[in-house]
Amino acid sequence: MKPTPLTRRHALRTLAGLGSYLTLRHSVRAADSSASAAAAGTVTLGGDLKVNRLGFGAMRITGPGIWGEPADREAAHQVLRRALALGVNFIDTADAYGPEVSERLIAEALYPYPRGLVIATKGGLVRPGAGSWTPDGRPEHLRAACEASLKRLRRERIDLYQLHRIDPKVPLEESVGELARLRSAGKIRHVGVSNFSVDELARARRIVPIASMQNRYNVADRSSQDVLDVCTRERLVFIPWAPLARGHTGQGLGTVAAQKGVSELQLAIAWLLAQSPMMLPIPGTSSVAHLEEDVAAAAVRLTPTELAAVG
Ligand SMILES: NC(=O)c1ccc[n+]([C@@H]2O[C@H](COP(=O)([O-])OP(=O)(O)OC[C@H]3O[C@@H](n4cnc5c(N)ncnc54)[C@H](OP(=O)(O)O)[C@@H]3O)[C@@H](O)[C@H]2O)c1
Repeated sequence: MKPTPLTRRHALRTLAGLGSYLTLRHSVRAADSSASAAAAGTVTLGGDLKVNRLGFGAMRITGPGIWGEPADREAAHQVLRRALALGVNFIDTADAYGPEVSERLIAEALYPYPRGLVIATKGGLVRPGAGSWTPDGRPEHLRAACEASLKRLRRERIDLYQLHRIDPKVPLEESVGELARLRSAGKIRHVGVSNFSVDELARARRIVPIASMQNRYNVADRSSQDVLDVCTRERLVFIPWAPLARGHTGQGLGTVAAQKGVSELQLAIAWLLAQSPMMLPIPGTSSVAHLEEDVAAAAVRLTPTELAAVG
């Protein structure tokens, strides 16, 4: 039977409705399966930079041993671009990664930067050769290092500039004091510190507001638990490095991961996210497939029983 104009209009409306239903289903499924870093919620750095609570560590996109250029430059660019497509809007790097290579790759792949992308870098470690990392916390070095990072990252101001490590030959007050001057000069928006104890963090905070703290912390290494506790209490962002604890995870983690149908590495990230609302993990990888697996962990939630089982 030939449809009347009314039934044809009705059929068209039904088709349009089905179309939007399918679009909605598709976007819900896309969010469920590939997940976005946004699924981890947000955290605010220094009171004004809100980022998704799962970032990306850009140390692994350089050559082997964090030395020199990557074998496949385009692959490194793809990892960075895919991170942004997956909702990552916090990238951690350092002038020492490569050295200089990681910062340069970030600018090549992502400049002009989308609004809201926060790039954190660090100064205070130099690389005299492959395999060696030497602290240099002299104010004149930090000033020159910050200027060089600004140029490589093609930024007027660095969102978060972190002192990579305390130089045992330079009082931390002198190094952090220089970061305070760079902040006053408008070169740095927020100051962060890395590899600090609770006491060192308190000394740094007497000189300048500290927005973030970056220490090694993961399910297998909780030696910075006291620092994390201070950050949670005082609402400083805590950025755990080596978040995946590769090769050091325990049996509890494996059992819970198997029960939940996620990988151990995803569970290690979910465990971190559950430790503190100020936690901002920055898993690093040179592979798009690994990146996708890591970011999907943003949607994994652990019950108190599961957390207790991890140990
Ligand atoms: N402040 C400091 O002193 C300090 C020190 C170290 C690191 N960091 C920062 O912290 C970030 C993370 O630290 P990290 O790289 O040492 O530790 P990580 O993120 O825990 O582990 C990275 C390693 O895990 C592998 N990986 C990542 N995702 C994987 C997956 N889904 N499946 C299998 N393997 C996977 C990577 O290899 P593939 O490339 O093969 O995926 C890489 O070798 C660094 O990028 C850097 O920004 C800071």
